[in-house]
Amino acid sequence: RRKVRTQHLREMKQRGERFAMLTSYDMYTAATFDEAGIPVLLVGDSASNNVYGNETSLPVTVDELIPLVRAVTRSTRYALVVADLPFGSYQASPEQAYLTAVRFMKEADAHCVKLEGGAEMAPQVAKLVQGGIPVMAHIGFTPQSEHTLGGYRVQGRGDASSKVLDDALAMQDAGAFAVVMEMVPGDVAAEVTAKLEIPTIGIGAGNRCDGQVLVWQDMLGLRTGRMPRFVKQYADLHGVMLQAAQAYAADVASGEFPGPEHTF
Ligand code: KIV
Ligand code: NA
Repeated sequence: RRKVRTQHLREMKQRGERFAMLTSYDMYTAATFDEAGIPVLLVGDSASNNVYGNETSLPVTVDELIPLVRAVTRSTRYALVVADLPFGSYQASPEQAYLTAVRFMKEADAHCVKLEGGAEMAPQVAKLVQGGIPVMAHIGFTPQSEHTLGGYRVQGRGDASSKVLDDALAMQDAGAFAVVMEMVPGDVAAEVTAKLEIPTIGIGAGNRCDGQVLVWQDMLGLRTGRMPRFVKQYADLHGVMLQAAQAYAADVASGEFPGPEHTF
């Protein structure tokens, strides 16, 4: 196996090979997903709700994300590690975006960064790419703009489909190496995928994107409660961990653990 580079994703698109991406925020998930051959790991700002306990992605800071990115890059041999730029750390100007992205590259060994937004973020993307930092774009539903978009809703329905395509093309022209499309109708995502040379990565965007991404706690069933329609659960980690924790507590209460084999 070789280290995954941004251009390998474009080559996979040209060969018609779909690829998977998962979030990761710590050592063991990074090492396990890397071992599984997942080519792209995203330290998402979704750490806000999936690590730090916030309700949305908005509160998480650069200082909170950097140690998580560092843990993932240290624990990964092959995967391309993407650092998500959090809300407020890049929107103000291309210079702000560059200085933030440089922190992720220097302090956490990130391989590239991701930021949310379409055509309006083209100056940011161009600045980063000119400065040697590969950028993954993120369009369609962009959670950092939840309050502007009026909640969690599908983007690009009907007449709005042309905005999704325009945003995707603007990101490609600005130099992005890939674009995440979140909660976009499958037909729209398929059209964008066909028109772009760079790979598209869907989440709630149907199966005609070049890649797919999921939040690992959703995919492995660690998170409980109401799940978005686009999530498929491949395991029940919540159930496994709950049972194990209950069995351990019961063994401690009964004196079953530690046994003679655990005792010096
Ligand atoms: O932060 C995140 O997890 C993301 C993916 C869902 C694309 O941005
Ligand atoms: Na994100």
